[in-house]
Amino acid sequence: MNDALGRTINYLRLSVTDRCNLRCRYCMPSEGIAKIDCGEILRLEDFYRVVEAATALGISKVRITGGEPLVRKGVIDLIEKISQLDAINEVTLTSNGLLLEASAQQLKAAGVQKVNISLDSLLPQVYREITRGGDLQKVLRGIEAAEAVGLKIKLNMVVMRGINDLEVLSFAALSQQKKWAIRFIEYMPTIKEPNWQQKMVPSKELLTQLENKFSLQALENNHTSGPAKMYQIAGAPGTVGVISPMSEHFCHRCNRIRVTSRGFAKSCLFNRDEVDLRPGLRSSDSTVLVETLREVIHNKPEKQQPIDNPDAKAFNMASIGG
Ligand code: GTP
Ligand code: 5AD
Ligand code: SF4
Repeated sequence: MNDALGRTINYLRLSVTDRCNLRCRYCMPSEGIAKIDCGEILRLEDFYRVVEAATALGISKVRITGGEPLVRKGVIDLIEKISQLDAINEVTLTSNGLLLEASAQQLKAAGVQKVNISLDSLLPQVYREITRGGDLQKVLRGIEAAEAVGLKIKLNMVVMRGINDLEVLSFAALSQQKKWAIRFIEYMPTIKEPNWQQKMVPSKELLTQLENKFSLQALENNHTSGPAKMYQIAGAPGTVGVISPMSEHFCHRCNRIRVTSRGFAKSCLFNRDEVDLRPGLRSSDSTVLVETLREVIHNKPEKQQPIDNPDAKAFNMASIGG
């Protein structure tokens, strides 16, 4: 359906868990992360009911996120059930890739065609540092496994000055070897890290760097671009793209709503408003859930509240799923 401003909303992101097997520095503070009690997390059958209700409103694409979605037991069965819904033509996943080696085959069999994988460095030591302990080789094996079973791959790299920004060219060069979409994401100060401004590399600066090295051709935006502006290096099988939530918000073409692991719907990543879906889930009248979601979509704000607003509260991206 369309929201009050005429944007077509057809994409639902489900954060099926706030747990993660990594602790990326830009996503989680070093301490003080309040874990949600297991009892508060929505059951997988409830996520399924949310998707069913959302299809009545025109949702046709579902992305499973976390935390790390693959740490949630039973998630592949959920994916399989969702992909069997007639109205759903795409079920995808955003993952850190650590568990992909073991699950790529099952994901493909469950109906997944594409995966977005978060990978912020190609250097083992830097990767370990950013993720607070992650094993780069394991992720690379996961990516290989995903490729081997025919999943389409997008890599998400959060660019941080002084940490991994010198690797941007190596990441871009991957698109010359692989049919992958390599996406560079502006660092968002969600955890309100002091001096975050020094870390944020505006996409414009990054594109200049890429243009100095490669011959880049801008691609038309289409339904596969999502929030990214896409480019292709001359002759490359893959693409490169920039996601610029800080320097150029993409709210006018936003097509998505989210559901958190606790069962709250959010019509915008950066707005505080959350709508509790649990009363609708408990109701024996299935229209309650549909009508609640209809309201959420209708009331989607025109644009995100400024991410760098000093009054905004810090939040853990893993609880919403990005
Ligand atoms: P596809 O377009 O389906 O590939 O998905 P995506 O790029 O939206 O999903 P992904 O989970 O890979 O997110 C990539 C980056 O975009 C992450 O850093 C997200 O936090 C960011 N992002 C996704 N949606 C939004 C949004 O609505 N607003 C903002 N500000 N950032 C978003
Ligand atoms: N800034 C930019 N991207 C972020 N992500 C998580 N936290 C941030 C942040 N603070 C990204 C992850 C993942 C996606 C879901 O969101 O790297 O690829
Ligand atoms: Fe986990 Fe993703 Fe957050 Fe990293 S960014 S800690 S992989 S949820």
